[in-house]
Amino acid sequence: MKIIAVNDYEELSKVASKIIIEKVKNQPDCVLGLATGGTPEKTYQLLIEDFKRNATTYQNVNTVNLDEYVGLPNNHPQSYHSYMFHKLFKLLDLKSENIHMPDGMVSDLQEECKRYDMILDHLNYPDLQLLGIGSNGHIGFNEPGSPFSQKTYVTTLSESTRLANARFFNHLDEVPSHAITMGISGILKSKEILLLASGESKAKAVKELLVGELDMNFPASALKSHKHVTIIVDSLALKEVRKIKDIELSEATCGGHEI
Ligand code: PGA
Repeated sequence: MKIIAVNDYEELSKVASKIIIEKVKNQPDCVLGLATGGTPEKTYQLLIEDFKRNATTYQNVNTVNLDEYVGLPNNHPQSYHSYMFHKLFKLLDLKSENIHMPDGMVSDLQEECKRYDMILDHLNYPDLQLLGIGSNGHIGFNEPGSPFSQKTYVTTLSESTRLANARFFNHLDEVPSHAITMGISGILKSKEILLLASGESKAKAVKELLVGELDMNFPASALKSHKHVTIIVDSLALKEVRKIKDIELSEATCGGHEI
């Protein structure tokens, strides 16, 4: 795993957007695997700025999203369909038929998982998959205990995930209990993976990811078995690692500092 240590969230977002833009320029028909949550928001803003300023085109890019809540209509403000549409898709020149997300509103969720896996198979999985990390180590909505062999499936959200995501809803009760998520085996089929971790709430998870063993109870550890993973981590999220590894951060540079 390549680790890029950056000072803060701003810098993390700059480095992440640079990597994604390079990918799109070098491979204009690439498949981008996209994530939701607080962490990638600024990265997406920077992609939009670049699109406006430099006209980087996404016309031949396909996107696949990691997950969607079960039971939230696509137009619900907290659905991941809404998130992606408002924060990214409507502001780039993506073709609507090239945008792929699981649908958490269908009556047959098992069929929907199969449909999504067929799309992933057809597209041959992301060329670049963007990931956040939960403070419990989840990636996508693969919660602790998820077998690494899982394809797309309906997952039960852990209490810690529902609590973490309650900040986006009016009340904890409104946070859905289930979601459709790409499984870990699908995520690992991505050619390249870019994981972003920012802030103190991620410090323990980042330490576990960097120094822990492969462990089903810490889903992000599955990334240890992938050949091309880059982790961009800011200084607050690196706090626990520095305590044990005595790693010093360099001065802020746009490229970050590789450990
Ligand atoms: P966050 O979520 O970006 O909102 O912290 C990350 C995740 O849960 O994967």
